[in-house]
Amino acid sequence: MTNALMTDQSIRITQPDDWHLHLRDGAALTTTVAHTAERFARAIVMPNLKPPITSVAAARDYRARILDAIPQGLSFEPLMTLYLTDDLSPDEITAARESGLIIAVKYYPAGATTNSDSGVTEISKSYSVIERMIDEGMPLLLHGEVTNPEIDIFDREQCFIDEVLDPLTQRYPELKVVLEHITTKNAVDFVNSQKDNIAATITVHHLLYNRNDLLAGGVRPHFYCLPILKRNTHQQALLNAASSGSRQFFLGTDSAPHEQDRKESDCGCAGIYSAPAAIELYAEVFESLNALDKLEGFASFFGPDFYGLPRNKNSINLTKTPWTMDQDFQFDNSCVIPIRAGETISWQLGKDS
Ligand code: DOR
Ligand code: ZN
Repeated sequence: MTNALMTDQSIRITQPDDWHLHLRDGAALTTTVAHTAERFARAIVMPNLKPPITSVAAARDYRARILDAIPQGLSFEPLMTLYLTDDLSPDEITAARESGLIIAVKYYPAGATTNSDSGVTEISKSYSVIERMIDEGMPLLLHGEVTNPEIDIFDREQCFIDEVLDPLTQRYPELKVVLEHITTKNAVDFVNSQKDNIAATITVHHLLYNRNDLLAGGVRPHFYCLPILKRNTHQQALLNAASSGSRQFFLGTDSAPHEQDRKESDCGCAGIYSAPAAIELYAEVFESLNALDKLEGFASFFGPDFYGLPRNKNSINLTKTPWTMDQDFQFDNSCVIPIRAGETISWQLGKDS
C-alpha cells in the first residue's frame, strides 16, 4: 500500500523514518528532537554519548529523556541502540531484545569517529556477542571504516569492506547487517552482491555533495563528516543506488550536530546537522534525478521492512515552496550551524499531514 501522490509541485508520501540519527543529550535534545519529530515518525538513535550507551538500563534512561523532549502535539518513537565494546556481554543482547526498546547494536571501530574511543579494537573479540545477536535476530550496524593511520582517509571504507565486512559476512551469513552512511561505489557494489540481510543507509549529505564541496576554493568545516565526502564518481554511485528501487538501500541521515566552535576550529569535529531539512533535501535530490516516484520506498518502506517493523500509516506532504534555512539554532549553551544555513531549500514540509 502506498500513500504516494505526485505532481510537479507537490508530493504526498507515507511518513518516513530516519534509520541513523544522533540526538545528543541534555539541553541539546530540545532542538534535535523537535527537528526530527517534525519530519520522521521513528528514528534509530545512535549510542555514542559520553559515556556511551552500553547497557539496557542506560538506553532506557536515555530514551526517557528523549521522550520528555518531544514537543506537544507531535508523536515520535526513538528506537534505541547499544554501543558494542570489547567487553559487552552476550547476555546484555538478550536483555536488550527482551526490553523491546533496543533495536540494534552499533559497532564503532575504536577511534574511527566522534566518541568511538570505547569501540571495538578487534572484531574477533565480539564473536560471542555477534552469535547471540544472530540467535536474537538483532542487526549489527556498522561504522564501516578502518582506523589504521597508514590507510588514506579516502580509502578507509573500501578497506573496511575488504578486511572486515566481507570476512564477517562469510563467517556469519545469517547476520543482519546495516553498513551505515555509505560513501563509495565499492560499498554499493558490495551490498548489491549480497542477500537482503545486508543493507545500507545513505545520508542526504553524501547524495548532495562530494569532496569538492569540502575542499575546493577553501576548507569548509561544516561539510566535514565521517566517512569523509568522496569524489563525484562515488557520489554518482550513491545517487544510482538510492533511486534504484533496491530494498537494500534506505534513508539514514546521520544528522550529527556539534557546537559551532567545535566545527570551526583548528581540529574540527565530524558531523553535518541535516535534521531541520532532511526529508526536504532528500526530495530535492530525488527530483534532480527525476525519480520522485522512488522516494517513498527509500524513505518510508525499505527501512521498516528490513527491521521487521510495520510501515507508518500516516503521510506527509511536501510542496515546492522555497524557504530559507535559519543561520543557526540554539544548541545547549551554544549554537549549531545547520546544513544549507541561510540558503534556500526548494521543498517545504506541509503544515497538515
Ligand atoms: O560525521 C559523523 N559524525 N560521523 C560519525 O560517524 C559520527 C558523527 C557524530 O557523532 O558526530
Ligand atoms: Zn552516525
